[in-house]
Amino acid sequence: MEVKKVTVIGAGLMGHGIAQVSAQVAKFEVNLVDVKQEFIDKGMAMIKDSLQRFLKKSVITEDQVKETLERIHPTLNLKEAVADADLIIEAIPENLKLKKDLFSEINQASKPDAIFASNTSSISITELASSTNRPEKFCGMHFFNPPQLMKLVEIVRGAKTSDETVNTLVEVSKKMGKEPIVVKKDCPGFVVNRLHVLSLNEALYLLWEGIADRDDIDKASELGLNWPMGPLRLLDYLGLDTFLAILEVLEKELGPKFRPCPLLRQMVRAGLLGRKTGKGFYDWTQK
Ligand code: CAA
Ligand code: NAD
Repeated sequence: MEVKKVTVIGAGLMGHGIAQVSAQVAKFEVNLVDVKQEFIDKGMAMIKDSLQRFLKKSVITEDQVKETLERIHPTLNLKEAVADADLIIEAIPENLKLKKDLFSEINQASKPDAIFASNTSSISITELASSTNRPEKFCGMHFFNPPQLMKLVEIVRGAKTSDETVNTLVEVSKKMGKEPIVVKKDCPGFVVNRLHVLSLNEALYLLWEGIADRDDIDKASELGLNWPMGPLRLLDYLGLDTFLAILEVLEKELGPKFRPCPLLRQMVRAGLLGRKTGKGFYDWTQK
């Protein structure tokens, strides 16, 4: 099937970036949905900011900025937004019930042949697909933060995902300028998060146990492992609430080695979620 119209649900850290690459690189018409106007406005502001950065570096032209913005249609009306979409990409919070409720709501409102994709970091694609009548047209499409810059997309098969759906999403990812990999079995955390979250959680334990200070933990990873940014700074970018939700799924499904560090839980309880709330391990209010 040929994808021309895409709807992205959730205009947050990931959704705004997925909508942007869909419109900017793949040149799809894109509906971008959220639950409140302020979240839509925030998402569109992040898109405009990112386009300006690309413009400044001459990666794109003024005309391309304008055309990209014209292709993105922000809306609060979920049913209208999904009605004629060929591909619907969900990027709402990492919460099983929230996601299942959303998919069962859009199931009736969408075209029967529309593909449903979830940007979940850890939740079972098979379980999400079970809230729809189209498990063969349901797939994981896992982008990385920030979606405008990170090349990888994990295309994750659920138990009933068809080859046609996988192949279509591989092609769509390439059109978006991404390098897809296919995760052949639906396993929690897929490939990257299965590898990565243990290191991030260990960084939290290093801090919590007083082994080293924040700046030294980040410096160690940057200079000793050549990570582009240290784990504590990266966690501030990801959102500590999202990271806790990911670890909770992995702990439940894969066992205690994924037990969230108590410091993480404490910070989430205190509302210190990282860049999105202004404070996490670092203070972002001045930046
Ligand atoms: N849109 C457009 N351009 C952007 C941008 C955006 N959203 N964010 C940053 N940039 C541009 C900046 O303008 C900057 O350009 P100049 O160098 O010309 O000024 C350039 O990118 C570099 O930006 P920064 O100097 O701010 O940051 P950086 O040098 O560290 O590079 C980065 C940015 C590529 C994101 C790099 O920091 C990096 O690789 N960080 C790690 C990201 C990562 O690990 N992501 C995966 C997280 S795990 C995940 O996503 C999965 C999950 O399920 C949780
Ligand atoms: P976020 O909190 O930044 O954004 C989520 C957005 O969804 C918010 O704007 C919220 O208002 C909106 N929303 C909530 N319920 C909604 C609904 N019913 N309908 C429409 N919009 C709704 O979260 P995020 O970091 O963008 O994460 C979104 C998904 O992407 C999660 O599944 C997460 O695991 C995954 N993910 C996150 C990252 C990351 O680095 N943050 C990376 C890869 C994947």
